Amino acid sequence: MQHYHIAVIPGDGIGNEVMPEGVKVLQAAAEVAGDFNLEFSAFPWGCAYYLEHGRMMAADALKTLEPFDAIYFGAVGFPGVPDSVSLRGMRLAICQSFDQYANVRPAVLLPGIRSPLAGKGPEAIDFIVVRENTEGEYSGVGGRVHRGLPLEVAVQSGVFSRTGIERVIRFAFRLAQSRRRRLVSATKSNALEYAFELWDEVFAQVGQEFPDVIAEQVLVDALAARFVLRPESLDVVVASNLFADILTDLGAAIAGSLGMAPTANLNPERTYPSMFEPIHGSAPDIYGQQIANPLAMIWSGALMLEFLGQPAAAQWIIAAMRALTESGHPLTPDIGGTARTYEVGDAVVALVRKVGVVADRL
Ligand code: NAI
Ligand code: MG
Repeated sequence: MQHYHIAVIPGDGIGNEVMPEGVKVLQAAAEVAGDFNLEFSAFPWGCAYYLEHGRMMAADALKTLEPFDAIYFGAVGFPGVPDSVSLRGMRLAICQSFDQYANVRPAVLLPGIRSPLAGKGPEAIDFIVVRENTEGEYSGVGGRVHRGLPLEVAVQSGVFSRTGIERVIRFAFRLAQSRRRRLVSATKSNALEYAFELWDEVFAQVGQEFPDVIAEQVLVDALAARFVLRPESLDVVVASNLFADILTDLGAAIAGSLGMAPTANLNPERTYPSMFEPIHGSAPDIYGQQIANPLAMIWSGALMLEFLGQPAAAQWIIAAMRALTESGHPLTPDIGGTARTYEVGDAVVALVRKVGVVADRL
């Protein structure tokens, strides 16, 4: 029996509401599969922990997390703690320390969900953004001088290494090879000539290794328009940390809701644990009402099972989500329903049991 030890960090706000649903669905998938089990260990880190201890995670958190097979993460950030403190103190610390350089972000319109784009159905919105996740604009290099004075200056530098660019681009090419063989690279070399000329050069060089993939370089602003106008032309998109951050909220929006967009922060070499989380944040505006959509959290769990080597169980979860959205009930208010967070989780659990058992008999 394969055994996986999963670190669970619900974090803040709706992270605490969607996490139990994700765990419950994963447990159901493991039970149905019967040949692997999941052991979850929860950690109470986040903004409440910060207000008590002056830090977002325990001092030895990274050492504690390192032996786990994977990290299942909710969201961080809450009013009262600056977002820069919460994000850098947790999510960025984990992604950078565990070298989770490939952040995989699917934008897929599920059946029955209405895209805000007129006339675009599930066949038109099915692509993956691969985000560089350890350097670039989010390297954390810079400073502020003359603090509080009128002549105050802030410097924020991007750090782009050849190795860092090359590995994420190669990952994206491989992913495109396994799909519809089209890769778009988001650039801005017309204005950011140092970082993105290097990015473009590496993209062209790595592209030589993949003659079977149609590679295209597009300015990020034009690409944002293309997300809206021609999403069907996209298969895999590779972009820097900041560009992909912005593009994937747009991707989530056209796929129906931020509440449905999953993500995997991968260390592809498996030297360190990878981390799986929804794209959305802690949504303080809806926290406490049990109306948060748990599908992004649940879907991220499916990405985790796939990466851990349980693709069948991962597929059951995705099939269950598809069956749910297609049936139109129960769904949370962000996608037109009236259901509570836990009702959606319960429905997905029931569907996973049904789908898994049917698949087992085939
Ligand atoms: P957000 O993603 O939390 O919310 C944006 C909007 O989407 C809100 O109107 C919210 O109600 C809605 N929304 C988000 N998730 C939803 C779900 N599952 N179901 C239904 N509606 C949902 O982003 P926002 O408001 O910019 O940030 C709130 C906090 O979250 C901030 O402290 C921010 O720093 C943090 N944040 C953390 C992230 C992370 O932990 N990875 C990512 C993004 C933001
Ligand atoms: Mg974001």
